[in-house]
Amino acid sequence: PSSSSAGGGGGGGAGGPLLSLSALFGRGGGQQQQGPTPEVRVPLNNVGKVPIFQLLYELYSSHGGVFRMRLGPKSFLVLSDPGAVRQVLVGAVDKYSKGILAEILEFVMGNGLLAADGEHWIARRRVVAPALQRKFVSSQVALFGAATAHGLPQLEAAAAAAAAAAGDSRGGGAASVDMESFFSRLSLDIIGKSVFDYDFDSLRHDDPVIQAVYSVLRESTVRSTAPFPYWKLPGISLLVPRLRESDAALAIVNDTLDRLIARCKSMLEAEGSIPMPASPSSPSSSTATSSSAPSSPSAPLEESSAPTVLHFLLGSGEALNSRQLRDDLMTLLIAGHETTAAALTWALHLLVAHPEVMKRVRDEVDWVLGDRLPGSDDLPLLRYTTRVVNEALRLYPQPPVLIRRAMQDDVLPGGHVVAAGTDLFISVWNLHHSPQLWERPEAFDPDRFGPLDSPPPTEFSTDFRFLPFGGGRRKCVGDMFAIAECVVALAVVLRRYDFAPDTSFGPVGFKSGATINTSNGLHMLISRRDLTGVPPPAPRAPAAAAGAAAG
Ligand code: HEM
Repeated sequence: PSSSSAGGGGGGGAGGPLLSLSALFGRGGGQQQQGPTPEVRVPLNNVGKVPIFQLLYELYSSHGGVFRMRLGPKSFLVLSDPGAVRQVLVGAVDKYSKGILAEILEFVMGNGLLAADGEHWIARRRVVAPALQRKFVSSQVALFGAATAHGLPQLEAAAAAAAAAAGDSRGGGAASVDMESFFSRLSLDIIGKSVFDYDFDSLRHDDPVIQAVYSVLRESTVRSTAPFPYWKLPGISLLVPRLRESDAALAIVNDTLDRLIARCKSMLEAEGSIPMPASPSSPSSSTATSSSAPSSPSAPLEESSAPTVLHFLLGSGEALNSRQLRDDLMTLLIAGHETTAAALTWALHLLVAHPEVMKRVRDEVDWVLGDRLPGSDDLPLLRYTTRVVNEALRLYPQPPVLIRRAMQDDVLPGGHVVAAGTDLFISVWNLHHSPQLWERPEAFDPDRFGPLDSPPPTEFSTDFRFLPFGGGRRKCVGDMFAIAECVVALAVVLRRYDFAPDTSFGPVGFKSGATINTSNGLHMLISRRDLTGVPPPAPRAPAAAAGAAAG
């Protein structure tokens, strides 16, 4: 095996490693036989200088699709080879677990689907996945459009200020809008309504529940980039104020979720849709974080019969205790929020940098929708916009690195031996950016996936070169939901506004947390789009028009 030393330089942006490298130290081995697998030693002091996905990309170009990376006493197998990745995600999936992910995320999502393994995962997936299927996603399209429209006044205010500033001879300045924050709030509003019928309304106001959600999300990011799992030390939260704050924030979020579950249960019980429980549920009172939970300071929860994932879970007939339900809801909130927000952020960034692509998106939106908000029947027609989202996810996969741990010995294509206990990084970033796997990998080219009337790209249709939603049985359960949300949100804002980077904030940069964020926001100057000369939308067939009206 070859051996070399990797520098940590190069690439843009500050920020720590995506994953808790040192949190892996001291856990099971994986350092036995090397075989044909190249090996690279990375000095520990290089860890954290660049985001881990950038470091892995540099090493990939010199060490190939399967290499072992040694960091201090620990080693990891880094996979950027489609055949090896396919084996781990599909062929030999039973041999691999989620490894440290469960430890990092346990505090917030308990035993929820994302980090669970084995029998528990099978049981959760069987209940959660059907809730997010196509029929449900179709029922949410109107909500995606309405939620986006609800945020338009903020963009309108910025556009009006810009128009006023342009006519102001004294040279008044126009304020830009941080579209990363806009999309983060939009996706929080959407996931809250769709999953458990909670109206965060975070695009319009801030309240303690919203702050609590962001505090919990920040803590997940901090833990995933921490040098070691210090939060497990006894009594540590007495010493670290941030941990106390995050406990309090978690208590607020848990309390809100418990009340939403209780409300939904009583509505369904009143309808006779689920059996009455033997005693009223107060799940959070059994947990340390929630026993001292203050009442949620949010407005009282109103009755609602909107279709939500929670309704589906409660109506599924499975015997779910409230703790499990809360873990599932929290998992969906975390898995579905930042990922989608990041996808929208980078899609807009790319579109603004590529006017020719922007023009084609707008031509499509103008033709399909005009000023109408999208209905579910419109989505199949917004094909180019969908390809734009696919391509944005290729260039900015969220998350850029997946993690696994081998539970049994395995041998990957090419004879790479994986000993039980080995921790693996699957670099989706490398797969998506590889010059060996893609022509002009750094180009933003939504046409690269083939004709627009061909099926959308999947991990199988691309031979595991493209896996923005993972692959195999652990594939994202929210993929259709996420694509639909992104397409709708882009269509609604791009029809109405022009965006130009506010260069006074400097380059957009990278920062890695659980997803790839900008280093300083996506600040855009906004103006009303000039629709002079834009043709009206195409006439719709009666069935499609009826569907859209319903939406
Ligand atoms: C899993 C990406 C949106 C819920 C995953 C995985 C990826 C991913 C790559 C696989 C992780 C692994 O194999 O280790 C994305 C991206 C999204 C997105 C890029 C947005 C653009 C959503 C949404 C939801 C969601 C909207 C829920 C409404 C989940 C869940 C899992 C998951 C529950 C775990 C599935 C399992 O382990 O069985 N996602 N996701 N995701 N995602 Fe998403």
